[in-house]
Parts: sequence; C-alpha cells; structure tokens
Amino acid sequence: MPMPPIPAPRCFGSFASFARVTRLCGLGVHKVVSGFSYQDRYILKGRRTKQMSGQLRDKVAIVTGSGHGIGRSLVLAMAKEGAKIVTNDIKSERAEKVAKEIFEMGGTAIPFTCDIANFKATRNLIQKALDEFGRMDILVNNAGIDRPHMIWKMTEEEWDIVIATHLKGTYNCTHHASIFMREQKWGRILNVTSSARLGMSGDAAYSAAKAGIIGLTRTVALDMGRYGVTCNCFSPTADTTAGGMTDLATLTASLERQYQMGLVTEKEYRKLMNMPNSDVIPPLPIYLCTDEAAAINGQVFGIYGNSIAIYEEGVEKRTIWKKGDLWTVEELKEYVPSILMEGIPKIQSM
Ligand SMILES: NC(=O)c1ccc[n+]([C@@H]2O[C@H](COP(=O)([O-])OP(=O)(O)OC[C@H]3O[C@@H](n4cnc5c(N)ncnc54)[C@H](O)[C@@H]3O)[C@@H](O)[C@H]2O)c1
Repeated sequence: MPMPPIPAPRCFGSFASFARVTRLCGLGVHKVVSGFSYQDRYILKGRRTKQMSGQLRDKVAIVTGSGHGIGRSLVLAMAKEGAKIVTNDIKSERAEKVAKEIFEMGGTAIPFTCDIANFKATRNLIQKALDEFGRMDILVNNAGIDRPHMIWKMTEEEWDIVIATHLKGTYNCTHHASIFMREQKWGRILNVTSSARLGMSGDAAYSAAKAGIIGLTRTVALDMGRYGVTCNCFSPTADTTAGGMTDLATLTASLERQYQMGLVTEKEYRKLMNMPNSDVIPPLPIYLCTDEAAAINGQVFGIYGNSIAIYEEGVEKRTIWKKGDLWTVEELKEYVPSILMEGIPKIQSM
C-alpha cells in the first residue's frame, strides 16, 4: 500500500521555517514514518535545556493535587518561572509542605486544602487565588485517585469516588474558574488524561473518567476559545507511585498479569515498567500556558520523558455506505469483517 504524503511539521508552520529554526539552534532533526495509519516523529538533538526565564511571570496558577507527584513537580517548575501559586491537595500537610518548598526557593505560594469533588469547596479554591493575588490565570486539573478492580468486582463506591474526583472535580474547578477567566479574557486550563482513556483492563472507572475528560476539554475549548481562554489536555507518564495514587507493588503485579494475558502490548508494558520521574512533565504544560500557545486549543498531548506527542482521536477510519435501503444484518455479517474491520486490531479478551 503506498504511504500517504508526509505533512509539513505543524509546530513550525512549514518545513522551510522548521529547517531554519533548527539551523539557528544547531539541532539535528530526524523524521521517522511508520505504522498502519502512519505517524510522524521529529527528534531534536543537541540543544541544552535552557535556564528558567520567567515564562509565567506574575501569572496566578492553581494546580489541584499539587501536594505530590506530577502536580508537585508542576508547581515547583511554574513557581521557578515566576508564577504565583495556590497549591491544593485533599491532604493539608501535602499542600502546605509544597507551598513551603516554593516559599523557601524564593517563590510565592499559598496552600488551600480541599476535596475537588466538592463543588462549593472548589468555588472557594478559585476565590482564594482571587483574594490573595487579585487574579486567576492558570488552572491545572491534575488531582487524581485510582481504585483499580475488574468491572465485576468494582463497587459503586469505587466507581463514584473515581468519577467524582477526576471528572466532576475537573468540571467543578473549570466551571468556577471559567466565570472569572471569561471576564478577564485570558486564561489557560489544562486537564490531565491518561493512556487508560483508550481502555485499560481492571480500571473501568479511571478509564471512563479519563476519556470523559477529553470530551470535557474539547467542549470547554469551544466554549471559551473566543474569550481568550484555551483548554488543552495532556497524558503524562511518571513514576509517582511512592505515596501516590497506586502503590508500586500493586501496579507492577497488575501490569505483569495484563502483559501475560496479552491485555497490554510489549511496548506499553516496557513503557510503564520504566516510567520517568515526574520532573520531566512541566515544560509542555508551562509552554501551553504562555501567550505564544494562544492558538493551541482543545488538543490532547502525550508526554513520556523527552518525547512529546499530539494525538488525533475520534477520527473516522473507514466507512461503508449502501445506496438506497438500510443495511441488512446478513449484509453486515459479510461486509463488517471483510471491509469495515479489515486490518483493525482486535481488543483481546481473557
Ligand atoms: N503518574 C502517571 O504515570 C500518570 C499517568 C497518567 C495520568 N496521570 C494523572 O496525572 C495526575 C497526577 O497523578 P500523579 O501520578 O502525580 O498522582 P499522585 O497520587 O502522585 O498525586 C495526586 C495528588 O492528588 C491528591 N488528591 C487526590 N484526590 C484529591 C481530591 N479529591 N482533591 C484534591 N486533591 C486530591 C492526592 O492527595 C495526591 O497528592 C492524575 O490525574 C493522574 O490520573 C498520571
């Protein structure tokens, strides 16, 4: 099958300008095209990591669940870039400890303890930023929990708390922040999804919440874009297990089991067994909060170490169409496997 044409790199507009930028920076660029529905990879080599340079000077940021893991790494990096931070966690000692860390490194931070699943409490969280700093520019809906169980073992309580934390929590904070950001005509909302959005055995509530967050992101992007507010989403991978959402032994055992059963691919298995530290996460979210990223809205990114991906989801892969009458079930028995599903990977069952 002939390969489809390779599009110009979107990040720099045209290949010519991309090449020019890379020459200026002395970078090496390699392009790899592979896969069924092809995928572009641009590998940049040779640039040293820049010193922090006030990218978020005087911006006010709230990061939920910033007492630990990815949220903590994010607020420390944002504070180094000059942002004033409201740290938040359901565990007060965590929110306070991180605010103190920011303060000790010369930054500005105030802790606010609350459960983001609580609508009224999140209104107070946003109000805290307004009261303390007079504005509210950046919201990162990061807080999360996990209650992994096979669907037949998952209790109603487990389902409810995971959905309430991730999905309702993201709505709660976004709703309250959007009222202010719409008036202010500037804002950045970042939501956190996961590769579990594509389905993850033994994690139905978490998968459902993380998939729902993408729909929420895209709709908020549409609602708020015209007011200068962007809403994007990223899917991180980071080893935050010590004291985090899931303990390492449970995670490792579950992954081993799923790999043995063929429920995760070898690539995914290796990726998850070698997770980078959460300190690799901040550059992309910080970039998305700058003025330069004003045109990036409603997108889903992936971050794994130094590699940053953009996803295209919900794309119609193939269509079968019949002139005149409706399809009959007999016809579908023939044409669905032979044409519509041809080459589409099967989700394995136990
Ligand atoms: N670590 C990964 O590889 C990974 C992968 C995909 C997605 N994520 C997502 O990234 C986000 C952060 O994950 P992490 O690995 O840093 O987790 P973590 O457990 O290290 O940190 C999450 C923090 O959120 C806090 N929290 C939990 N429930 C809360 C609530 N109701 N209100 C306020 N705070 C609450 C916790 O106390 C904790 O401090 C989550 O949304 C998670 O689903 C993480």
